[in-house]
Amino acid sequence: MAVQEGAKYLEKHYGGSGILLGGVPGVAPGRVVIIGGGVVGTNAAKMAAGLGAHVTILDISLERLRYLDDVMPANVDTAYSNRYNILDQISTADLVVGAVLLPGAKAPHLVKRADLKRMKPGSVIVDVAVDQGGCVETIKPTTHENPTYFVDGILHYAVANMPGGVPRTSTLALTNATLPYGLTLARLGWKDACRRDPSLALGLNVVDGKVVYPGVAEAFGLALVDVKSVL
Ligand SMILES: NC(=O)c1ccc[n+]([C@@H]2O[C@H](COP(=O)([O-])OP(=O)(O)OC[C@H]3O[C@@H](n4cnc5c(N)ncnc54)[C@H](O)[C@@H]3O)[C@@H](O)[C@H]2O)c1
Repeated sequence: MAVQEGAKYLEKHYGGSGILLGGVPGVAPGRVVIIGGGVVGTNAAKMAAGLGAHVTILDISLERLRYLDDVMPANVDTAYSNRYNILDQISTADLVVGAVLLPGAKAPHLVKRADLKRMKPGSVIVDVAVDQGGCVETIKPTTHENPTYFVDGILHYAVANMPGGVPRTSTLALTNATLPYGLTLARLGWKDACRRDPSLALGLNVVDGKVVYPGVAEAFGLALVDVKSVL
């Protein structure tokens, strides 16, 4: 959805710069910069590449970049995610997609407010990581009713529940993945289910007021309790 929404808000009447991501013969395609090459970033890259845009994916995992370089089409480049490359890439981007995740922790602010001045007026930021605090400093959560706002001439889209815009598809997709866990929890109860299935135990964040997930403890400066001691 990040690219679908981004392409829409690049249209002039929404306040965007009036760029068609795919370009046309004789007019260059738009540039899409994706920060974070995980599930969200990879699918955004597939969508943007399919439209014909020029795409760059930034990530800090070299293993991930190698994989993406192997499987992505020729209009997708990869770049190591560091301050220099981020500033370099956003200065020519039409659409920036934020798709960074530090599991269980707040997303790092990789694009600062001052950096927006380097971007082209009317370019669009879709920060999908907004549900974890966002990887763009100027991001604040928005809703489907009122999805966008401007900061320094850059259009920000930050709907915290983007799949809610396509509930028919997203509910079926989510249920396919979660129903087996739900059935195990219903059959065994949460404690026994987490004891038997380590992947469920990994989902525990707080038990009886004790934080058992390292990223959450670190993000909120709270003591960490070993998950095994509460099972
Ligand atoms: N707004 C919404 O509706 C919505 C929907 C789905 C997911 N999300 C959010 O989108 C974000 C991404 O989710 P995902 O499933 O793709 O996660 P993921 O774990 O699959 O991918 C995250 C990627 O970020 C990379 N990363 C970490 N630090 C980085 C850095 N400094 N620079 C560049 N890359 C970095 C990781 O190496 C990883 O490849 C999460 O915050 C998730 O909660 C939001």
